[in-house]
Amino acid sequence: MAAQSIKLALMPGDGIGLEVMAAAEQVLAALRDHYQLPLSWEQLGWPSTGWHREHGQMMPDDGLEQLKRNGYDALLLGALGDPGPANDPERYRLSDSVSLAPLLTFRKGLDLWACERPARLLPGAPQYLADPRAREVDMLVIRENSEGEYINQGGRLRAGSIDEVASQLEIFTRRAAERIIRHAFERAQERQRRRKHNGETRDYQCDRDRIATAQVCLITKRNAQPHWGDMYTEVFDQLAGEYPGVGVHHELIDAACMKFVQSPWQFDVVVASNLHGDILTDLAAVLAGGLGVAPSCNINPADKTLPALFEPTHGSAPDIAGQGIANPTAMLLTTAMMLDWLDLGKAAEALRNAVAQDMQSTDSKQRSTEEITHTILRRIRESA
Ligand code: IPM
Ligand code: MN
Repeated sequence: MAAQSIKLALMPGDGIGLEVMAAAEQVLAALRDHYQLPLSWEQLGWPSTGWHREHGQMMPDDGLEQLKRNGYDALLLGALGDPGPANDPERYRLSDSVSLAPLLTFRKGLDLWACERPARLLPGAPQYLADPRAREVDMLVIRENSEGEYINQGGRLRAGSIDEVASQLEIFTRRAAERIIRHAFERAQERQRRRKHNGETRDYQCDRDRIATAQVCLITKRNAQPHWGDMYTEVFDQLAGEYPGVGVHHELIDAACMKFVQSPWQFDVVVASNLHGDILTDLAAVLAGGLGVAPSCNINPADKTLPALFEPTHGSAPDIAGQGIANPTAMLLTTAMMLDWLDLGKAAEALRNAVAQDMQSTDSKQRSTEEITHTILRRIRESA
């Protein structure tokens, strides 16, 4: 266990972010006490729509600088984008491009070039697919997080007129392709080792009719977007040579959507561009029980100097915010990912087990955020 002190920034954000972060904070405190973790944290009121109401912006001008400067080892974020209660006159004031911008600012500004979204159907989680084999869903979607469709370059010419032109530039670099694809192979190897260690066996159907015990699937749209699609494919083929134990597979994004629903158990590690990864991970979340249980992180696998950002895949859920019924599971599984990243594997495992036991032991009746949190806290204490 790490002896050095570890400092976190907790950023609840807004909407259900406030409620699920309260759950995460209680769980962190319990884990800190029971495993004597050298953890401390600060709560930040930004970014949030609440901060925007007071200050006219989602976060301070030097917000990013503060996150870099203040020695945080990791950032835990709840959710962003809640416009507030329906009767609030300011309700619709913020556009998504304002309220959600901090997420993209952090991912880019902290050089967090990989987004990892595991999708594993835990026993007891809602299973939306009828095929019993869908119980075996256990994939890791790795999303390129630094470029591609998200570079926000382009513009609108002759806005509002019939002759208006909108352009949206996409940029793909070999450097970014190499590092994200290499990372996918590394994770596939790790998962393969872990399965072996746990006595699990998996066979994945790969390209050229090969069956392998680990797989990386590259997603592109190279039939319509050949420039980046071919470059990614070349890099993929090249790197595959360095990982002979891992089978490779290629899917076009449209076919991948179909196969995620038809036979999601055939996927192990999936690597996709920023936008394709964004879309696929909402789909993957549903395969694993829904957005209420889908964790996510933004990391720089090569360099831990700047803090990584941990945020569930879900948003601020304005429709249920403030009612005390938000499911904290995604936030807690995200917290477990953060603990793993911080080399606090034992605490991460205890948390994941407590969440898994909680899911398995519940009937389908709706429980409050507090009820779920208390059950998980009790299980953590019992296990310690
Ligand atoms: C996500 C979200 C964000 C994204 C939005 C809020 C900009 O959908 O984290 O998946 O597209 O990356
Ligand atoms: Mn998304």
